[in-house]
Amino acid sequence: MSRFRLLLTRRLPPDVEARAQRDYDTLPNPEDTLLSPQEIAACASSHCADGILVCAGDRITAEAVAQLPASVKVIATFSVGYEHLDVAAIKARGIVATNTPDVLTEATADTALLLLLAAARRAHEGNKLVRDGAWRGWHTTMLLGSDPKDKQLGIYGMGRIGQAVAQRARAFGMRIHYHNRRRLPPEQELGAVYHDTLESLLQTSDFFSINAPSTPETRGLFNAEKLALLPRGAIFVNTARGDMVVDEALLAALKSGQIRAAGLDVFAGEPNLHPGYAALDNVFLLPHVGSATEETRDAMGFAALDNIDAVLAGRAPPSPL
Ligand code: 8YV
Repeated sequence: MSRFRLLLTRRLPPDVEARAQRDYDTLPNPEDTLLSPQEIAACASSHCADGILVCAGDRITAEAVAQLPASVKVIATFSVGYEHLDVAAIKARGIVATNTPDVLTEATADTALLLLLAAARRAHEGNKLVRDGAWRGWHTTMLLGSDPKDKQLGIYGMGRIGQAVAQRARAFGMRIHYHNRRRLPPEQELGAVYHDTLESLLQTSDFFSINAPSTPETRGLFNAEKLALLPRGAIFVNTARGDMVVDEALLAALKSGQIRAAGLDVFAGEPNLHPGYAALDNVFLLPHVGSATEETRDAMGFAALDNIDAVLAGRAPPSPL
């Protein structure tokens, strides 16, 4: 019996690739280059792919969906975020779209705390001082940062990752506030204070963490007007998506001291982030590595394959969109 054909738009962790090759005729992208929507559709067409495993940067537009061959039954993204997929167009063609929630919750929340602490404790400046050989010795007011203890942490988006950020932040003595589309039940809220508007949350937050998806409603949400609502000297963390923040507004707030420091893992236009960030010492920057641990990336790959296996076997996938 002929095997299903699976298009892999990017290289995957070795154990994930091994499982894909064991179970499918894989159509790889050995150069691991970012393919355009048209290239993905053309490749799926020329090989009559049954499924496509995409990653976060791979855009599947309505035009690309229209060009896919009838053989394609499933498009599985190796990510929890799915703003790069036109899910409505995919579904309208009768193709199942899936993502990989849950498995990356802990790693991404860990990264949010890494950024929060790095920004609060001026990790970039300290690291630079030592590496540049510019450290001339200890003194009592060198690189003073800010304690998380007893500070108000505002979490925008209290889903799985937001709740995992709250759990970690509590261990640092932070008081948790959040805004979400709906208020959580008490057993999930765990004493966190619900704000029914983003404005109210911003006004309360000494530290602020974005943990919501990028959607047409949230893109560009954090503009100059919103950032001005934060208490002066707030610390700003983003592990969600860069396009929710207006770069010029965040850069201006970082320069004026309205925002004391930021920790950013995600950027609009990745990997070509606004050059203003690298010029500032009060920003700690990471290259979108929120879920980048060996364990988590394997789990994401296996979750994507579980989804593909289910759809191609005629079953409901574990994580449909
Ligand atoms: C990944 C992410 O690094 O899952 C997401 O939405 O942003 C990250 O966990 C990326 O998506 C890998 O494809």
